[in-house]
Amino acid sequence: MDNPARYMLTAALPYANGHLHVGHLTGAYLPADIFARYLRLQGHDVLFVCGSDEHGAAVTMRALAEGSTPLEIVNKYDSSFKSSFKKVNISFDIFHRTSAELHHETSQEFFRKLNSNGDFIEIESEQYFDAEAGQFLADRYIVGTCPKCQYENAYGDQCENCGSSLSPRELINPTSKLSGAKPELRMTRHWYLPLDKHESWLKDFISNGNLNGQPHHDVKKWKNHVIGQCKSWLENGLAPRAMTRDLDWGVDVPSEIAGSEGKKLYVWLDAPIGYISASKQWAMDQGNPDAWKKYWQDDESALVHFIGKDNIVFHCLIFPAILKAHGGYNLPVNVPANQFLNLEGQKISTSRNWAVWVNEFVEELPEYIDVLRYYLIKNMPEQRDSEFTWKGFQEANDNELVNNLANFINRVVVLTNKYFDGKVPQPDPNEGIIGSDYADEFSFLDAELLRLYDMTYAVHESIMKYDFRAALQGVMEISSMGNQFLQNNAPWKLIKSNEQGTANVLNHGLQIIYVLGHLLSPFLPEKARELLSKINVSLDERSDAILDMMNKMAEGEELLKANHKIEEAFHLFSRIPDDVIQQQVDKLHKQGSLSSDKEEINNLKSTIDFATFQQLDLRTGTILEAEKMKKADKLLKLTVDLGFEKRTVVSGIASHYKPEDVIGQHITLVANLAPRKLRGVESQGMILMTENEQGKLVFIRPDQTVSNGSEVS
Ligand code: 2FM
Ligand code: ZN
Repeated sequence: MDNPARYMLTAALPYANGHLHVGHLTGAYLPADIFARYLRLQGHDVLFVCGSDEHGAAVTMRALAEGSTPLEIVNKYDSSFKSSFKKVNISFDIFHRTSAELHHETSQEFFRKLNSNGDFIEIESEQYFDAEAGQFLADRYIVGTCPKCQYENAYGDQCENCGSSLSPRELINPTSKLSGAKPELRMTRHWYLPLDKHESWLKDFISNGNLNGQPHHDVKKWKNHVIGQCKSWLENGLAPRAMTRDLDWGVDVPSEIAGSEGKKLYVWLDAPIGYISASKQWAMDQGNPDAWKKYWQDDESALVHFIGKDNIVFHCLIFPAILKAHGGYNLPVNVPANQFLNLEGQKISTSRNWAVWVNEFVEELPEYIDVLRYYLIKNMPEQRDSEFTWKGFQEANDNELVNNLANFINRVVVLTNKYFDGKVPQPDPNEGIIGSDYADEFSFLDAELLRLYDMTYAVHESIMKYDFRAALQGVMEISSMGNQFLQNNAPWKLIKSNEQGTANVLNHGLQIIYVLGHLLSPFLPEKARELLSKINVSLDERSDAILDMMNKMAEGEELLKANHKIEEAFHLFSRIPDDVIQQQVDKLHKQGSLSSDKEEINNLKSTIDFATFQQLDLRTGTILEAEKMKKADKLLKLTVDLGFEKRTVVSGIASHYKPEDVIGQHITLVANLAPRKLRGVESQGMILMTENEQGKLVFIRPDQTVSNGSEVS
């Protein structure tokens, strides 16, 4: 679809189980916002929706951790999202919630339709049930030992130590996070979407951009990593996926359907339908309840989903299968997913509190909100993971926004005030000036305007390719070009010999500022508004102002007319003092190190009595020998001296320590743990370790020298 009549834009519904961090912003919300803002300014009809994803284990687990109820949790984070998004100026047409009645009805309607079409299969299977808590356990509620790396706190769906995807039945010694009990297997019946039956058309959709044998979208415009991930799922073969759960929090399976009691919709069934219910609510708010339909159901509308890479399979394969099975809905023309943002060399982690939280940023650094947008767009993880550092944030501000952009604007405005009384000087096309590429064919001013048009068009092309980093860079190149143009023509010298030449230079400088004010708007909306207000231009962000501007430039028409009054000189950006940055760095490290305590509190294991504790035999020791284990990247084989005997211990520390680093280290050993074989070697105990704030494993040991074999009590 080359020129759609309208755009339906969605940004992933964030789980209402934690505040937003900068990774979320740059992953889905900023790219979606830039695209929405830009399309509007090109005169397109856009509906841009989002909302809180309020169901699923993500929410109920948070309630458990915070000693709260799911409803309190979703209310708390939904209002946090609304306020954060507003402050960073994400221009949703609506921010809805999946707890809304309208959403429950909309997703139930989908379920009914698919069920009556025969699009589900019902399967009975054994699943873990916690008899003490009286409920079936979501995968995340079951922890146990990872069969692949022996990590003891692996979840039922994934081991966070080795990254393997797991199913609960694979865990060794599963226990319920709800009660600490050993769960039992019980039969339960669920509705599954037979994704295997959708495989063939999905392959054609993903690989060729076809739908029902007809061209649907241009796969060349899709990101490689998105197509790559989908193809790998498709090549591994799609399996039926359960669309319901035994839970007490979520959207009910419609009650008239036999067997619905106690069953809820799978959160990944209801969440993307949330885009549709949000659109319906928007239409109702417009007083035109059917207005949503043309965005979702008209062939001429382009649906684009903005998400992070962990959501690819749901938006490229599963939701399209649901939409197609339902019928009557458009499928996405693109899913420009982003990769992940790291922070100061580490993965962003909510549980370790290693994050820059948006709600805190907007309170602590409100004057730098557009600097944050700038830095996050400049480093957007579009093709690969990228990195946020506070130093980089400061440098981007000081070197680019201050030295390049604000400096250019300031110079033009200062000189216009100084030489021309703060009015756009009257240009004279017959007055030639050096430094123009088109000087032979066009007048100086036409030539400069054409160059500006070409640079603007390059920004346009990048945005339409979802290449927002390049687009922002293109805008900054216009500012660099402006600085170079000033440098080449030196109006501060020229004024002495050639007033008309100076008028031409500053006139063009002001046209550049006008263009910058417009092109910056989708990226840095606040600063763009501020800039335009200083040149007395008002920009209606819901108008076709950029289209209009480009048309004028293409026709050689000036954007700011002679004699138009501008304001006094100003600094659009200023340097960020070192101590502001240092405070943020210190805060990050402090919160990161405190968080391990917090996690412990949140994930406290169930109480044991003193007698149980006394059964543990903890001893001090010294590591005498260490060697790598064959074919086990994470394991070291250690010989530990306990004074009265030597033990062989296999320890999962090889990614943190080289063998030579641990020889001679004092340690504490769980000395009466039943021996177990790891990769053919019997491990006779376990060394106590904890994780430092950088996520490195460190030894727990006495703070003074004691003899090997001393009891720890
Ligand atoms: O990953 C997440 O945060 C999910 N809550 C995204 C859902 S996107 C959509 F389907 F709603
Ligand atoms: Zn593992």
